[in-house]
Amino acid sequence: MTHKILLLAGDGIGPEIVSATETVLTALVERFGFKCEFERALMGGCAIDAHGDSLPEATLALARAADAILLGAVGGPKWDKVERAIRPERGLLRLRAELDLFCNLRPAALFPALADASTLKPEVVSGLDLMIIRELTSGIYFGQPRGIEVLADGVRRGFNTLEYRDHEIERIARQGFEIARKRSGRLCSVDKSNVLEVTELWREIVQGLAGEYPDVELEHLYVDNAAMQLVRAPKQFDVIVTTNMFGDILSDLAAMLTGSIGMLPSASLNGQGKGLFEPVHGSAPDIAGMELANPLATILSAAMMLRYTLAEADLADKVERAVARVLADGARTADIAGTASSTVSTGEMTKAVVAALD
Ligand code: IPM
Ligand code: MG
Repeated sequence: MTHKILLLAGDGIGPEIVSATETVLTALVERFGFKCEFERALMGGCAIDAHGDSLPEATLALARAADAILLGAVGGPKWDKVERAIRPERGLLRLRAELDLFCNLRPAALFPALADASTLKPEVVSGLDLMIIRELTSGIYFGQPRGIEVLADGVRRGFNTLEYRDHEIERIARQGFEIARKRSGRLCSVDKSNVLEVTELWREIVQGLAGEYPDVELEHLYVDNAAMQLVRAPKQFDVIVTTNMFGDILSDLAAMLTGSIGMLPSASLNGQGKGLFEPVHGSAPDIAGMELANPLATILSAAMMLRYTLAEADLADKVERAVARVLADGARTADIAGTASSTVSTGEMTKAVVAALD
């Protein structure tokens, strides 16, 4: 079966890292019989420039028709002043919502070869391998009403709404249990149920499902404590499931534990397993077009695409092994150079990964 992959290069370093990943996928086609066809579309600042909208209708239509979507990065200072409703970030949020990509997987694993990249002590982070599951299409990011208004007395009031329906909590919690079951069997649900009613409901629903997954050990933490524990002793965690905004914050924290945000992939999946795959890092406009960007997070995002959406686990393993191998051999882009004496370019790193595919 031929997989239809939509490439959304986006802005900044997006085009370089997506093209690097296309090279790796093409090597899978040539050497291992992987069948795919690529489509391309504009999204983010480049789409604002061309069509006045960060997520044009044509892009959305191609996204709906594709089996999987690979996104580079969107945004940059050039579009910071653009009206809120059409900003690059809004395009990304709309794409998540339109395709119902409610399940966001953000692994944070430390590559042994990069153990000294973290700002935490090596013994605290070595062997770290955790998975944050973030609810992605509800919560305070999407709740209505929202806005900024001027009250009768001239005081300005900004407001957003944090809401979850029971079925929205249930479906993300089930993902948490299922994924925990395939890993260590431990799941930590993060909420603020001592203060927020919404997350009181969250905790009640997650707890209510526990009986269906007797093989999974469930614990609940308040988000402030979870943040503290993640820095104090991150290896106590395996799978964390949480709300949209808590997940946004905790996943950046977790990325920093590994010390190399340029390495971290992510997947955003809908109920049918269709997904959008993108690196966790941003568009890095300061180094765009300079062949300095680390393509590995995007390449690893493609590995997640192979594993979670395209049912090509063997190929996903091959890509992940190739990345581990080039790192073990000492290839380093500038962002992960540490004390290394020399660095490689985006293109050289990509070539090394292709050569390391077994
Ligand atoms: C992320 C980003 C986005 C979010 C922004 C760019 C809208 O921070 O994917 O974590 O807040 O979800
Ligand atoms: Mg974020």
